[in-house]
Amino acid sequence: MTCLASTENSGRRYLPAYFSPEAESPNQQLLPLSARGNDQDHLEVGGCDVPDLVERFGSPLYIVDELTLRTACRQYLSAWKRFYPGPAQVLFASKAWSCLALCALVAREGLGVDVVSGGELYTALAAGVDPGRIYLHGNNKSRLELEQGIESGVTIVVDNWLELETLASLGRQVTIFLRLTPGIECHTHQYIRTGHLDSKFGFDLQQLSEVCQFIRQHSHLYCRGLHAHIGSQIFELQPHQDLGEVMVQALVATREAGLPVEALNLGGGLGISYTETDDPPSIGAWVEQVAQGVIEACGRRGIPLPELLCEPGRSLVGPAGITAYRVGSRKEVPGVRTYLSVDGGMSDNPRPITYQSTYRALMANCLSAPLTQVVTVAGKHCESGDVLIAQAQLPPAVAGDILVVAGTGAYNYSMASNYNRICRPAAVLVYAGDASLILRRETYLDLVRQDLLPPHLAF
Ligand code: LLP
Repeated sequence: MTCLASTENSGRRYLPAYFSPEAESPNQQLLPLSARGNDQDHLEVGGCDVPDLVERFGSPLYIVDELTLRTACRQYLSAWKRFYPGPAQVLFASKAWSCLALCALVAREGLGVDVVSGGELYTALAAGVDPGRIYLHGNNKSRLELEQGIESGVTIVVDNWLELETLASLGRQVTIFLRLTPGIECHTHQYIRTGHLDSKFGFDLQQLSEVCQFIRQHSHLYCRGLHAHIGSQIFELQPHQDLGEVMVQALVATREAGLPVEALNLGGGLGISYTETDDPPSIGAWVEQVAQGVIEACGRRGIPLPELLCEPGRSLVGPAGITAYRVGSRKEVPGVRTYLSVDGGMSDNPRPITYQSTYRALMANCLSAPLTQVVTVAGKHCESGDVLIAQAQLPPAVAGDILVVAGTGAYNYSMASNYNRICRPAAVLVYAGDASLILRRETYLDLVRQDLLPPHLAF
C-alpha cells in the first residue's frame, strides 16, 4: 500500500501535524489528501483556496474533497481484491452523508449504497444508483418503506419479526438479508455500539432457526444473506475478526435450517482520526482482518468462501470533509478561558454535544501564524453546551478570519438540524481547482416552507 504522506510537497509545509508519515489511508489523516498551504498562506483543498470558497459560497461551508473520497472507495475495493479470494461488494452507508452527489460519486466508483429509510432510499434511487446494489436497513421500517423497497427492487435487510410478517403478508417476491445481533462488544461510545446483546437491532442468534423455518414457509421471501454491524468509530481489529467466526457459524446454522444463504454483510465501523491521539487502522488492515476472520472460520469448517459485503460510512466520507466557519465574537473569562465564536455550531455539527466528540481546527487564512493561543471554539446557538472544540490551539484570531474544522465529512450534514432556525450550510465538492455546489444553502424561505398559519392567527 502506498504511503499517502509520500506525496508530500512544499505546500504541506504548514500542515505537517495533519499528515502522519505512516498513514496508508485517508482515515488515518486529519485533513483531506489534497489539503495544502498556498502562496497566500491560505489552506487549499482540491486545488481551491478555502477563504475564496467562503467568499463565493458563504459560511459555514461544508467542503468535500473528491480525491479523498474516491481514494477511500478505491482502497476498500482493492483491499477486498487483495485479501479475499471470494466475491466482495462495498456499500456506502449513506447515513454518514446522504445526498445526490455523494451517492452518485460512490456508485461511479463501483460501490453499492446502504439506506436506512424511505428518504435515503429515495435519494439513492434519484442519484441513479442501481437498485440491485441498494440495501434497505432499519429496525422499524414502515409498511410503506417496505413496499417502496420491494417496488424499487432493492434488497431488504430484515431486522425483526414484524417486518418478516409484513413482507410475508405482502406476498411479493423479495430478496432479503437477515440482520443478526452477534453479541460482540467493542469499545466505542455507547450510543454508536450496535452489535452487543442489549441492542435494538436485529434478531438474536437464538431466534435463527425459528426465523429460518418461517422464511421456508414463504417461498416469495428469498433469503440471500446474513448481516451484522457491531458499532462505529472502532479502532480495534479483534472484534471484526471475532465477527467472522460468529457469522460463519450463523451461515452454517442457516443452511442447516434449510436456507441456502450465500452472502455475509459484516457492516461498517472503521474509525477515523479526528485528533492526533486517534490511531485507527488503515482501510487495508481492516479489510484484511475482516477477510481473515471469515477465511479462517470457513477453513475450520471446510466450507467454500461466501460472498462478502461491507458497508463503511465514516471512513469513506469523514476524512474527505471539512467545515469552514467565519470567526465572530470573542470573550475572555479571565483566568478561566477564552471563547471564540463561529457562525455555525451544533446545528451543522451535533457530534460534540451528542457524543463529546473531539475535533481539530486551523485558521485557513493564516496557516503559518504561530499557534499562540488556546481557545474554546463555540457555536452561535443559544445553548452553553454548543462548543465545537473545548481546547483549540490557534493563532490570535479576529472577526472575519476563516476557521476550519477537520474531519466533518461524516455524520455532520446528515445529522444537521435547524435548531434556533439556523439555515443548513451549503456544501461544495472540490477537485483540481473546481468547486461544484452539491447542496445549496438553506434560505429563510426554506425554514418556513412547512409552516402553516391557521386562519384565526393570521394578521
Ligand atoms: N451499517 C450499519 C447497519 C450501521 O448502523 C452503520 C452505522 C454503518 C453501517 C456505518 O458505520 P460507519 O462505517 O460509519 O462506522 N451518528 C454517529 C454514528 C452512528 C453510526 C450508526 N450506524 C456518529 O456521529 O458518530
